[in-house]
Amino acid sequence: MENLKHFLLALCAATAAGFVSIIFVFRWVLYFKEGLAWDGGLAEFNWHPVLTVTGFIFLQGIAIIVYRLPWTWQCSKLMMKFIHAGLNLLAFVFAVIAMVAVFDFHNGANIPNMYSLHSWLGLTAVILYGLQLVLGVGMYLIPVTPVSWRAAFMPLHVYSGLLLFTSVIAVALMGITEKLIFGLKDPKYKDSPPEAIFVNVLGVLLVLFGGLILWIATRTSWKRPSDQILHSLHTNGGGEDNSKVASALAQLPDGSDAYGAGDARKRSNKFDEQVN
Ligand code: HEM
Ligand code: HEM
Repeated sequence: MENLKHFLLALCAATAAGFVSIIFVFRWVLYFKEGLAWDGGLAEFNWHPVLTVTGFIFLQGIAIIVYRLPWTWQCSKLMMKFIHAGLNLLAFVFAVIAMVAVFDFHNGANIPNMYSLHSWLGLTAVILYGLQLVLGVGMYLIPVTPVSWRAAFMPLHVYSGLLLFTSVIAVALMGITEKLIFGLKDPKYKDSPPEAIFVNVLGVLLVLFGGLILWIATRTSWKRPSDQILHSLHTNGGGEDNSKVASALAQLPDGSDAYGAGDARKRSNKFDEQVN
């Protein structure tokens, strides 16, 4: 991998920011707020920030960069797809439970539903994320989808995935700010009590985590080597002939160096694996 040191630095910084965010959100609800319970009260509401930060933000972020980890490049693409899809599914389950917690709390306390921008964008993100999951499974895990569809849909999949991830972080920042304004009475948010400072730092950590994940996920040189080759061939104006594609694919790792330039079937399988 090109710039392995930079990659590891970005990865360590992202995981550190993610882990510290999780510690912060637990400390917020357990030390500054009412703790965690499933009783229809404020302790039930607290599952909402905990599950959105740990699941919808942290797990989703890790799911997005999982293909980029160099030590997974020995694994088959299919195995990596299951890991990517599985982590995204887990993130979705966390998000759904987080939604149930806040709706249940609102209904129990007679607070109106869906009045804020936070709730509009938040629920939209959860629904679109569910759609992205279904389309992802339909396109890339079910073997009947034609390869041409898979390849055509990939830029949209990547774009919508990154857009959703970014939006979820923006939604969390709105939620955090709302909660601080609603929750801090004496002293108020504007008086900067320790809880306000602490939770503002949580917001900064979430932005840092999001920025680092986006950075890692958008470096072409940090893609799985096979995907990089395709990317460079693709962005070379499409003028590459088949022999160049063949020789590029023949350099791929994962124990396939044995396949010679004449083995057209293996080559075409390899090509299928890369665009899928
Ligand atoms: C309410 C989604 C993160 C604080 C809501 C509601 C939704 C939602 C759909 C409306 C519930 C209802 O109307 O009954 C999300 C999503 C998040 C997220 C998708 C993903 C990041 C957070 C975080 C906090 C938070 C991290 C911080 C405490 C709140 C508050 C409410 C709320 C205070 C009640 C006020 C309102 O409806 O705006 N959230 N939320 N949210 N959320 Fe979040
Ligand atoms: C790649 C997001 C679900 C299959 C990506 C990428 C993102 C993303 C951002 C680009 C990663 C990179 O360039 O390294 C998401 C989100 C999902 C989701 C947010 C859930 C809501 C799925 C599912 C599948 C899938 C269920 C089914 C297997 C793929 C494949 C790639 C990919 C094959 C290409 C990886 C590569 O560059 O080789 N996804 N994805 N995704 N995703 Fe998903």
